[in-house]
Amino acid sequence: MKITVIYGTNRTEKSSTYNIARQFIEELADGDTVTEFHLPRDMPVFCTGCLTCLSDSTKCPHYKYVQPIEEAMESADLIIFTTPVYLLHVPGQVKALLDHFGFQWMAHKPKDVYFHKQALVISTGARIGIRQTVRDVRNSLDWWGVGRIYRFKKTVGMKGWRGLSDKRKAAFAQEIKQTSKKIRRQTGAKPRLKVKMIFYLMRFAQKKFWSDEPQAIYWKENGWFAGKKPWKRT
Ligand SMILES: Cc1cc2nc3c(=O)[nH]c(=O)nc-3n(C[C@H](O)[C@H](O)[C@H](O)COP(=O)(O)O)c2cc1C
Repeated sequence: MKITVIYGTNRTEKSSTYNIARQFIEELADGDTVTEFHLPRDMPVFCTGCLTCLSDSTKCPHYKYVQPIEEAMESADLIIFTTPVYLLHVPGQVKALLDHFGFQWMAHKPKDVYFHKQALVISTGARIGIRQTVRDVRNSLDWWGVGRIYRFKKTVGMKGWRGLSDKRKAAFAQEIKQTSKKIRRQTGAKPRLKVKMIFYLMRFAQKKFWSDEPQAIYWKENGWFAGKKPWKRT
């Protein structure tokens, strides 16, 4: 399975989220391409707010950072996001990455390639805030139209990965195997109802209220106003 991984930090061996992601990759890659990005190393800038991407995403002033990540995500069967909890949410660098992909939200110009994809969000925290943190990433994935999303979220205490007992690590390994089996089974599956609902809602809004905005032409050209669905392969 082709995998693209976006690590929420530059940390590696000592990081819980990194170690968990590596175990998933071992279960699922089967020798296929694994493309990895670390934040903020591979997206070291904040969105400037120019909104140029809504007309033409290749004109983003940070396209040299956006493009390789965009290409890798589009060609992957599975996108893995890792994110620690920082003050009950994702770290700033994860939000900075997601902000750069606002153009592909269903409110703007979604891409049909995402509707059959799967994503996995891995998050660890010392104590609290994991649920909100996973939701920060999930929101974008839902609005990109990602077909299936899995979560792997764990509290790991203040000592993190090195402080975890062998018993806990073995329990993680077991759960990683089980979740990997589910991911394998769902390859190419239809998108969830939630994704379809967002699509229908946005289609209604595009047609009724936003028809003079640049993305309306894009929706029309894709045949989505005429009843075509981004998850139906022709
Ligand atoms: C700036 C900062 C803020 C943090 N805020 C929280 C928090 O709000 N809740 C929590 O449970 N852990 C918090 N933590 C702890 C990390 O989420 C935790 O150590 C996590 O497992 C780190 O993941 P990693 O090992 O992959 O880097 C914070 C850590 C840092 C550095």
